[in-house]
Formats: sequence, C-alpha cells, structure tokens
Amino acid sequence: MPLSESSPDWDALYRENVTPWDKGAPAPPLLDWIEANPGRLSGNLLVPGCGLGHEVRLLASLPGVEIVTGLDLSPTATALARELPATGLERYVTGDLFALDPEHHESYDWVWEHTCFCAIDPDRRQDYVRAVHGALRKGGSLLAVFYLDPYDDEHQPGGGPPHGCSMDELTERFEASGSFRIEESYTPASAYPGREGLERLVRMTRL
Ligand SMILES: C[S@@+](CC[C@H](N)C(=O)[O-])C[C@H]1O[C@@H](n2cnc3c(N)ncnc32)[C@H](O)[C@@H]1O
Repeated sequence: MPLSESSPDWDALYRENVTPWDKGAPAPPLLDWIEANPGRLSGNLLVPGCGLGHEVRLLASLPGVEIVTGLDLSPTATALARELPATGLERYVTGDLFALDPEHHESYDWVWEHTCFCAIDPDRRQDYVRAVHGALRKGGSLLAVFYLDPYDDEHQPGGGPPHGCSMDELTERFEASGSFRIEESYTPASAYPGREGLERLVRMTRL
C-alpha cells in the first residue's frame, strides 16, 4: 500500500500500526543470498531503516557476524524491535541516517539495505550514498535489495514512498560517483508476494 506523503511521519505510522511494508519476516532475496554465500557476511553490520528488525535478527544469528546495528528514525519501531527475542549481538539505535553520530563513521564491514532507499525522498538519494559510504570502512560492502518498480494504477511516481528507481540511476549514483564498485547485480528469483521481478539485488564494494 503506498503512502500518500513524500516524507511521512514514520513514527506515527508505527504508533498507529499502519506498516504495510512490514511482512513479519526477512526479505526472501536475502535468505537466498545467504544460502548461496555461506559465511560471507561477517564482522559489524549496519541495517538503516530497520523497522522492526526482522533482518537484523536474521543477520545477527549468522556465524561470523559480530554486532548488527539496526538504525531507524522511529523510536516506536526500535522499541518494538527490542521487545522481540534477540538472536545474537544485535542492537537497535534510534537515529537519522543523514545525521549519524561519529561512532558510526567507517565502523561497518557490511551495510544491508532493504526498503530504506525507496522510503526516503528521491532528492536525498545522494545524501544516502554519502551516509552509507561514510558508515562503511574502506573495502566494506553494501548488500541491497532495491525496490525498482513499486508502481501500479493507484501509486504513481511523485505520490510518496515507496519511490522507484532504475539500475541506470543506481549505477550513476553509487558507481559513477566514485563511491562504490558494483560487484553483483541480478533480479532475485524469490520475493515477497507481489514484488516478483520488481526488485534488484546489488552488492557493491565501498571504495
Ligand atoms: C518502508 S519502511 C521499511 C522498514 C523495514 N526495512 C522493513 O522492510 O520492514 C522505511 C523505514 O525507514 C525508516 N527511515 C526513514 N527515513 C530514515 C532516516 N533518515 N534514517 C533512519 N531511518 C529512516 C522509517 O522509519 C521506516 O522504518
């Protein structure tokens, strides 16, 4: 279900339990990628816009992963995430990806992105690239599932999040800017119902 405003009050949506993006389970493409790449994810991970943290807990349960930091603007989301049973050394931080505390600077080996990029205003996408680049250590990786095409008859571009994007735009913003090198990019074979063929899994190295 699309949201009507360009920058919604995310915390109000969590308080009112209007969270159509929350499927109650990790994204299927992440599960498949982990199965195909055992042991690849390791060290300290950041999950921006983690919501209730379903993927934070999956990642924290993996051998070799140390601490997973789930970051979200919404204090209600992070409070609800903390109430769910921990699987490892995860933590939830309430904060703005665009105003990260210095403790996050070049601190992470991996960033997992899912439905944060599409949630922010498209005008802030280069700020997103800068923020994720700043949080990763050099040589770290961004693993992402981008929701390329969230549009239908009722939800069109300009109508608020989720905001779609193209692979060309992602290449321009992340790679041509000199911030990242794209290593892997494909349309995932699995997806939440209704998102089949509309997403793109991309793995990039932070330069
Ligand atoms: C569409 S929801 C997706 C949540 C979660 N990834 C999921 O799939 O359930 C987008 C999330 O990004 C968070 N968010 C939006 N802007 C943010 C920002 N600037 N910094 C941190 N989190 C942000 C919202 O509070 C919301 O939880």
